[in-house]
Amino acid sequence: MQERLLIIDFGSQYTQLIARKVRESNVYCEIHPFHKLPPLTPDVKGVILSGSPYSVNNPEGPKPDLSVYRQHIPVLAVCYGAQYLVYTDGGTVASAAHREYGRSQLTYMDRNCPLFADVPDNSQVWMSHGDTITKMPAGFDLICSTPTVEAAGYKIQGEETYALQFHPEVYHSTDGLRMLGNFLRTVCGFSGDFTPEHFVESIVPALREQIGDGKVILGLSGGVDSTVAAVLLHKAIGDRLYGIFIDNGLLRKNEYQDVLASFAGMGLQVKGVDASQTFYAALKGVTDPEAKRKAIGKTFIEVFEREAKAIEGATFLAQGTIYPDVIESVSVKGPSMTIKSHHNVGGLPEKMNLKIVEPLRTLFKDEVRRVGKSLNIDPALLGRHPFPGPGLAIRILGEITAEKVALLQEADAIFINALRRHNLYDKVWQAGTVLLPIYSVGVMGDERTYEQVVALRAVQSIDGMTADWSPLPHDVLAEISNEIINKVRGINRVVYDISSKPPSTIEWE
Ligand code: XMP
Repeated sequence: MQERLLIIDFGSQYTQLIARKVRESNVYCEIHPFHKLPPLTPDVKGVILSGSPYSVNNPEGPKPDLSVYRQHIPVLAVCYGAQYLVYTDGGTVASAAHREYGRSQLTYMDRNCPLFADVPDNSQVWMSHGDTITKMPAGFDLICSTPTVEAAGYKIQGEETYALQFHPEVYHSTDGLRMLGNFLRTVCGFSGDFTPEHFVESIVPALREQIGDGKVILGLSGGVDSTVAAVLLHKAIGDRLYGIFIDNGLLRKNEYQDVLASFAGMGLQVKGVDASQTFYAALKGVTDPEAKRKAIGKTFIEVFEREAKAIEGATFLAQGTIYPDVIESVSVKGPSMTIKSHHNVGGLPEKMNLKIVEPLRTLFKDEVRRVGKSLNIDPALLGRHPFPGPGLAIRILGEITAEKVALLQEADAIFINALRRHNLYDKVWQAGTVLLPIYSVGVMGDERTYEQVVALRAVQSIDGMTADWSPLPHDVLAEISNEIINKVRGINRVVYDISSKPPSTIEWE
């Protein structure tokens, strides 16, 4: 039985961060929206209540009935969660005289409280709230205070319910991870068995059972998720896994051959399909970025469908869906839900009557990498930068032609190889080269040139939602620029993109 912690989401921007920190303690957890509370089952050993952008005094603030958990299992209430329990149990929460935002210190800690074991005096915590607890209900005992917030934390008598007004999950709460760990281990009694090795041990038989003696089709992209999914499925069902890797003619230089070779090296049965010409034909005359994406998506589905139909007796379609794709998020504007669909192969499952299998559905991206590492997948493959599905098509501004792809591939290979040579590849989150639809004048020897411009893009990011341009060393940029201009016929100028996201995006299209 896999022990579980439930995180009840009230809409805080930090909810996923709580989940990732809990997972770092090797405890399996799930995020559920407050209006769909899961029942209490024997595998659930604790609950965390998240923060929220609402005030508890706002009639629209989330107000679920928590009696299903309280007094039955340990509960840790954070921020809004902490205020909500005060509100429901007859205390008061009011607008703070001044908003509590930023760093503070715990100048009082109840040393008998298990949350604070091994937490040093004056531990720094991160506050972020407009309201404050002004009167605690009867039976609520203070466990910590800051100089400005007396009720920075409490425990409720007669139940294993603890609350913290600050955010233990954020980096600036210096001992927050220890407090979370204390809650998970000491209060809830989790064994901390959710490790990559344990995940593999439990998912492989589960996949075997789900698939039975069926055949599985998997579209591979050369990216981390589909590769890890493939290796897990291969472990479970061997050669009843049929991988398909489509060359859309928009991959990096030599990528098609290299990726196929590494799949073969891992013992995977993968069919390579060179469909470059089909994609170029579909992209002919297309210049609008969204129209390019649509044309590529549609062509991909057609090619994939044709190849999938050639696999007789297939029963399942595997997808590399990961946990952030399936979390039901609480919208800030009210309790509506959004679930991202991840059906990048269109209506294929319905059309071919295939069932879906998603081996990575419970994992965060960093966990997929760790599972990949425990499966001995090549670290170079696991550490690859993200690469967009439409590939170089959205890095060639304007119309796509085979010649432009070849030109960009050469320049891009020089850039990426230089990053590797200078040990910068792993320090950058994503890098790529963009072919601009601009001709500029240059001079080479005695000759005047009139050729194209490329822009180099390298960014730092956590998840691609926001990004800063990477301050690559000038001498490395100089070396890359020289090499591109000297070696790639057709390019006589290189510029470096120094825009951050927002307001710019990472890709130019
Ligand atoms: P932007 O350009 O929106 O990119 O800042 C954020 C991240 O998403 C990738 N990206 C895509 N990935 N299909 C994909 O699979 C797309 O159409 C697409 N557009 C952008 C981009 O490479 C970056 O990692």
